[in-house]
Amino acid sequence: MIVNGKHHRTVWLDEENSQKVVKMINQSLLPHLFEIVTYKTYQEVANSIKTMVTRGAGAIGGAGAFGMALGVAQTNSERELRQAAEIMRNTRPTAQNLFYGIDCVLNKVTDLSGEARMTAAFEEAQRVADEDSDNCKKIGEHGSELIRDGMNISTHCNAGWLAFVDWGTALSPIYVAKRQGKKVFVYVDETGPRNQGARLTAWELMNEQIPCKIIDDNATGFLMQRGEIDMVIVGSDRIAANGDVANKIGTYEKAVLAKENGIPFYVAAPTTTVDMNCPTGKDIPIEERNQDEVLYKWGWSDDGRFIRIRTSPENAEALNLAFDVTPAKYVTGIITERGIVKPTELANLF
Ligand code: MRU
Repeated sequence: MIVNGKHHRTVWLDEENSQKVVKMINQSLLPHLFEIVTYKTYQEVANSIKTMVTRGAGAIGGAGAFGMALGVAQTNSERELRQAAEIMRNTRPTAQNLFYGIDCVLNKVTDLSGEARMTAAFEEAQRVADEDSDNCKKIGEHGSELIRDGMNISTHCNAGWLAFVDWGTALSPIYVAKRQGKKVFVYVDETGPRNQGARLTAWELMNEQIPCKIIDDNATGFLMQRGEIDMVIVGSDRIAANGDVANKIGTYEKAVLAKENGIPFYVAAPTTTVDMNCPTGKDIPIEERNQDEVLYKWGWSDDGRFIRIRTSPENAEALNLAFDVTPAKYVTGIITERGIVKPTELANLF
């Protein structure tokens, strides 16, 4: 996607002084600062995923694959490589694409050695990144068929291009619809506690000149009731074999409200997000994040400083579940790169 007139992916491979490096957009500073960071080791990439310098299922899938390739370049020892994979895997528990990216690279280098091993690792990581971008573009093409001129669409969290290598999932159909000349308006849930909707989705949409308004997370139901939302499209971090969907906390509520108000509720995700080893949503590990994300807020002060402020009483405690699971019965359809399917038909895609 284009930022300041230049095409960017969220994470990519580069070379500095004849050494492979991983570059990514530092999402923790957006929308206030656009910064690109460079990493030379898998440990640094692992830390960037853990601290959410990069975030979103496909973006951490790409980062996981590139990080793993750096790991291959750092050691010839099989034991150390397994250790590196464990460190990468332990960064975030919910998004399936992270494990997909790591395993693709790991599987590719088994039985290889020396130069061939390293070349195969970097080629495979690049393939994972390109696949993610291609899948998301196709999701946009399929999903745009659902969008009629003049629709008001609601989305939760950020499942735009920042959450993937490029294009995104929930926002990709909107980008394609816009390019087809359709008028679309987006209600952006601010998405507490980290506000990925208000910070990232709004910034992305504004970059694309797509009209949008940020709304309080609690406003969606009322807007649905008033007939002001025609369709919901969200992303997903992992989809179970039965079509249950894990996504940012608060998604479940939107899905139930959509059904109550007769509004179609679509989930956009590549098939690499589906975990056929998770029979139902109950088997998906749900990340619990640091309570400080709920107790404090980060933002840009009027005098130009990036500051943290406490918005809760001293010594208050918080519970910070990062994701929830929406049962398949609330999902109208899943928009994948292979077409739009009912959650119950997901298994037919494999
Ligand atoms: O905590 P994050 O920002 O990594 O959350 C992941 C997400 O961006 C969402 O759940 C998103 O809607 C799913 S698509 C990556």
